[in-house]
Amino acid sequence: MSGNYHIVTYGCQMNVHESEKIAGILRRIGYEKETPIEEADIIVFNTCCIRENAENHAFGNIGALKKLKKQKPELLIAVGGCMTQEKGKTDVLKKKFPFIDIMFGALNLETLGDLILRKRAQKKKVIEIRETEGEIVETDDAYRTSYPNAWVNIMYGCNNFCSYCIVPYVRGRERSRKPEHILAEVKKLVAEGYREITLLGQNVNSYGTDRDTGMSFAELLDAVASIEGKFRVRFMTSHPKDFNEDVVRVMEKHRKICRLVHLPVQSGSNAVLQAMNRRYTREKYLAEIEMLKSRLPEAEVTTDIIVGFPGETEEDYLQTEDLVKTVDYASAFTFVYSPRQGTKAATMDNQIPEDVQKNRIMRLVELVNSLTRKKSEKYVGKTVEILCEDFDEKKGLYLGRDEFGRMGYFESEQNVVGEFVSLKITRANGISLFGEMVKG
Ligand code: 5AD
Ligand code: SF4
Repeated sequence: MSGNYHIVTYGCQMNVHESEKIAGILRRIGYEKETPIEEADIIVFNTCCIRENAENHAFGNIGALKKLKKQKPELLIAVGGCMTQEKGKTDVLKKKFPFIDIMFGALNLETLGDLILRKRAQKKKVIEIRETEGEIVETDDAYRTSYPNAWVNIMYGCNNFCSYCIVPYVRGRERSRKPEHILAEVKKLVAEGYREITLLGQNVNSYGTDRDTGMSFAELLDAVASIEGKFRVRFMTSHPKDFNEDVVRVMEKHRKICRLVHLPVQSGSNAVLQAMNRRYTREKYLAEIEMLKSRLPEAEVTTDIIVGFPGETEEDYLQTEDLVKTVDYASAFTFVYSPRQGTKAATMDNQIPEDVQKNRIMRLVELVNSLTRKKSEKYVGKTVEILCEDFDEKKGLYLGRDEFGRMGYFESEQNVVGEFVSLKITRANGISLFGEMVKG
């Protein structure tokens, strides 16, 4: 039996890549192509649980399928990802949405094909959530939809237990892939024409510390960037407690590695950082940025910030603002603290009222946007190298990113998707840049 599929993805880059793996599995068992939701024979939800609104979003979208499932009883609905890994969540889902056919966990994504085949052979729903992380299953299954960019997991899981974060509970402990598997995957992708490789892990700097891989992260990065060919290398996420000079030395050695480090700070206040169990101080963080910029003055940094963490005072918040101005981030993802069941912070008795949280996030977003706008303006008149990713039908323009992740739009008579082009920036609009292709 064949048919078409539709995958709905929530959450981070890790999940986006896992949806490519899900697509690979679906194709392997006979599904042909991705279609709009109404035309699909199977719909897979790849969920996220990092903040409450990600969960609410998924709940809303799954609930909206009730009618479609009634009209099309043969339609299969599968729910997997981080949310199903949460304690007790599958029971909630079963109760709320009895029409779900299959549930699988983020820790046993590779079993989805078998679960679908099992479900097709029986009336009863199929639920299989692996509770603890097993050995890494190496497959060559991903059906990639992000050309010319490719994501490559170097490790799974997280050992850090930041007090607000649910990831270690749903993704298990750190497991590093073997360097030979990672390098073989990158070589294959480069040979296939992928032009940007992003190495993924919750905490890439602790690569290889969970088992004897024979390589540290810096050594792995060096090996990846030593692969022949014209392509860019990115990596994320770095943890400030582990980010070090070895990595920056490797960046210096290879122009292929983008001069951009995603270094989530979370807060600019030492008291909050301690309560978050981040295991670094504001001073250590700033010293790392200084080290990076002293070796690579052109380097840029992006970050994640949480406001409204339990106990955060106005003074603490202002320290975050001050740090944001000091570092002058290329961009920042800003979040309101969201209590997650089972984490330490959710039990703290000094939760911050919603109106205070809202007020702080508004001020922080305004600050971050003003810094980004200023950076955009500095681009005007400069020529930057863009990796063309796509054609925007609405704008009638090609688009791509520079090494700092800035989006640039331009006209071209030829299809240049997958090519590096030089773009002279003529105009900046908020975070987007517009320019003209420069020949030669
Ligand atoms: N509430 C708000 N933001 C969170 N993050 C992780 N957990 C939470 C939470 N409970 C943010 C952190 C992290 C990013 C991926 O998500 O900033 O770096
Ligand atoms: Fe969560 Fe902290 Fe691990 Fe990041 S490092 S996934 S914030 S526990």
